[in-house]
Amino acid sequence: MTPVLDIEGLSKGFTLHHLGNRIEAFDDISFTVGAGEFVLLKGANGAGKSTLLRTLYRSYLPRAGVIRFHSDHGPIDLARAADIDVAHLRRTEIGFVTQFLQARPRVSAEAIVAEPLRLHGVAVEEALAQAREALKTFGVKPDLWKAYPTTFSGGEQQKVNLARALILPQKLLLLDEPTASLDAHARAALVARLAELKAAGTAMIGVFHHPGDVEQLIDRVVDLTPDFIKSEDRTDVDL
Ligand SMILES: Nc1ncnc2c1ncn2[C@@H]1O[C@H](COP(=O)(O)OP(=O)(O)O)[C@@H](O)[C@H]1O
Ligand SMILES: [Mg+2]
Repeated sequence: MTPVLDIEGLSKGFTLHHLGNRIEAFDDISFTVGAGEFVLLKGANGAGKSTLLRTLYRSYLPRAGVIRFHSDHGPIDLARAADIDVAHLRRTEIGFVTQFLQARPRVSAEAIVAEPLRLHGVAVEEALAQAREALKTFGVKPDLWKAYPTTFSGGEQQKVNLARALILPQKLLLLDEPTASLDAHARAALVARLAELKAAGTAMIGVFHHPGDVEQLIDRVVDLTPDFIKSEDRTDVDL
C-alpha cells in the first residue's frame, strides 16, 4: 500500500477567552491512510470530527502532532507547512467536500464545476463538457447548467457542490457529511463517484450522516468518541 497520510499524536483544542477555559476537540490521534483507502470517521456530536478534518485541511493549526502528507513533491508535514504550500496542495492534491456550496454571484453552475479542471490546465470547452457531464450525473437539470447557483435550492446547490468537488481526481479527499439533504438519486451518484475515485487510488477520510450509504467502501473506522479513541478493522464495526 502506498502511504498518503500518516497522522501521529494529533491534538487540537480551542481556548474560550470569554470563559477563560479550553475545550479539547481531540487528543493524541494517530492513524494512516493509503492510496485507495477509505477511512470512516465516527463519534457523537461534538466529538471533534469536523475539527479533525479542518485540521487535516489546515484550516486549523493543531496544538501538537504530525500530519505527514506524501505529496507528488515528496513528504510534507501539513502541521508545519507554509501557507503558500498548503494553498498549492489544495489546488492540486487535497480536496475537501462539505454540504455547502460557495456560490459566487454571476458565475454559472457549469463554470463553477469546470473551475478545478481549468486551474489544472484543461482547455475551456473540454472542461465545460466534463462539467455538464458531472452535473448530469448528480441530477442537475440541463436548464440550470448556465444559471447562477446563488438562486438554486439547497439540494441543487449541494449537487453542484459535489460535482465540483469530485470532478478532479485528487490524492486525498476529505468529506464532512456531504450527503445531508440529498435525494436518493444524488446519494447513489455520490457513492458511485467515490467508488470510482477509490479505484483510481484516491485516499479518503469522511464523516457520513448515513454511514450505511458508503458501507461497501469502508476499509477502516476511526472512532473519535472521547476516551475511547480507536482504529479497527471494519469487520468488527457496528455502523
Ligand atoms: N472554532 C471553534 N471555537 C471553539 N470551539 C469549537 C470551534 N469549533 C469546534 N469547537 C468545539 O469543538 C468540539 C468539536 O466540534 P466539531 O469538530 O464540530 O464536532 P463534530 O463534527 O464531531 O460534531 C465541540 O465541542 C465544539 O463546540
Ligand atoms: Mg461536524
